[in-house]
Amino acid sequence: MHAKIEHVEGSSVSHIALIMAAGQGTRMKSTKPKVLHEILDTSLLDYVISAAQAAGCKRTLVVTGHKCEEVEGRIAHHIDSGRVEIVHQEQLIGTANTVQSAREVLKGESGKLIVLSGDVPLLRSETLEALIDACTGSAMTVLTAQVADPTGYGRILRDEYGTICGIVEEKDATEEQRRITEINTGIYCFDLNGLFERLEKIGNENAQHEYYLTDIVRVVLDEGLSVGSITSSDSSEAMGVNSRVQLAEASHIMQRRINEHWMTEGVTMPAPELCWIAPDVELEPDVTLMPMTILSGPTHIASGSVIGPDTRISNSSIGEGSVVDSSVIKNSEVGKHATIGPRAYVRPGCVLDDEVKVGTSVELKNVQVGKGTKIPHLSYIGDATIGAGVNIGAGSITCNYDGTVKHHTTIGDGAFIGSDTMLIAPVEVGTQATTGAASAIAHDVPAGALALERSEQKNVDGWHERKQKKEDADVSSHDTHGKDAQ
Ligand code: UD1
Ligand code: CA
Repeated sequence: MHAKIEHVEGSSVSHIALIMAAGQGTRMKSTKPKVLHEILDTSLLDYVISAAQAAGCKRTLVVTGHKCEEVEGRIAHHIDSGRVEIVHQEQLIGTANTVQSAREVLKGESGKLIVLSGDVPLLRSETLEALIDACTGSAMTVLTAQVADPTGYGRILRDEYGTICGIVEEKDATEEQRRITEINTGIYCFDLNGLFERLEKIGNENAQHEYYLTDIVRVVLDEGLSVGSITSSDSSEAMGVNSRVQLAEASHIMQRRINEHWMTEGVTMPAPELCWIAPDVELEPDVTLMPMTILSGPTHIASGSVIGPDTRISNSSIGEGSVVDSSVIKNSEVGKHATIGPRAYVRPGCVLDDEVKVGTSVELKNVQVGKGTKIPHLSYIGDATIGAGVNIGAGSITCNYDGTVKHHTTIGDGAFIGSDTMLIAPVEVGTQATTGAASAIAHDVPAGALALERSEQKNVDGWHERKQKKEDADVSSHDTHGKDAQ
């Protein structure tokens, strides 16, 4: 679903993206920088970076300031791969200064600069492309939107001919201006030629004493040039996330957008409002997602699989025709026609082959499981290599941790682990070997052998009857003492 980065190609691409992400986001009331708040497990900033890259920008600059290390750490994969460059804004004195901060790194560049806000995550790359096209030959073009409730946004001022004559922030607006429902999305396309000279002309004489990027409109008009605009047909794209309430609203819109995309691609969701699919999840046709399914990270679900209800899968792949019911799977691979759950917990590092069954209340961690192996009930298996066609009886456990070090368990093909076997690692159970139920296996079991480790059973005949008689005698002597006492 993620916008693909593929079409960044050729020398014809000349536009550069600048994403403003230096602000604190006071209205979020959070110790976390606003642009790192998440929608479907993905930061707001990540959505904006994806949109910029999908629109084919040749360079993407992210301007950081407030808690810059934290922000940069979060997008380190983009920085390391060269897809994103960081620019610092020294003082957070307004959006005009944010763009000014990139003056040095953009020296010698020409063409278009798209300016985006790190807190406007629902913007589509198609809209950005339309904005870039519209900017051909103009000094600047602004993306606007018509919204039912413009509260909090800058308002677009137009003259009697419909030409843009200014943008006014809500805090500086008159009553009449506040009634305007066309808003500034905070997304612009500028001609780099002359941009930084224009920014220098912006002052901070306004309600917030900030250098507003929106004031560049005046500067452009004063030069006798016009300000272009396009209006997004889908006003939800323009939504800025400034508060937790807006974060929830944006999450909801993104959830619906992604779910509708996958339903169009052949995925069944009986209750899509109860499925949450992150942007970097890939689903094949004929996957069914039952209610309360949460999929995140790069996760791939193959055709015919039924996931949920009540299931979380992150950074994992699920093969064709598998069933995952009421379970959690993290950083693992599941083969074809596997059955997981109900209530299984597959922790990181598991590779489960085709037709594996992991049943009720089973926890796995860092385990390789061969084809057709069954771990049906109430087991903990950690740090193990299990062959094909193995049966692990109910309640069996790998005792992998001695308090200091984790040890490995190996179980060969076709082995049969009796119920409640304790496999005290490091230990190896050979091919076709069997362990007797309730055995504590601390030594290797040779292939084909039966390992039995439990004490001889002793039966005490007539024990219940004798116990009953003793109890009855105790009660009557207690009653007698009671009477004496009276
Ligand atoms: C801004 C616009 C407003 C528009 C709205 C759209 C200005 C003056 N106003 O208002 O017209 O309707 O966006 O969502 O531009 N930032 C920095 N450095 C700063 C200040 C802000 O990097 O010094 C970043 C923030 O991290 C944020 C973005 O710029 O990602 C916008 O800043 P914010 O304070 O949210 O502006 P708004 O009040 O929403
Ligand atoms: Ca904002």
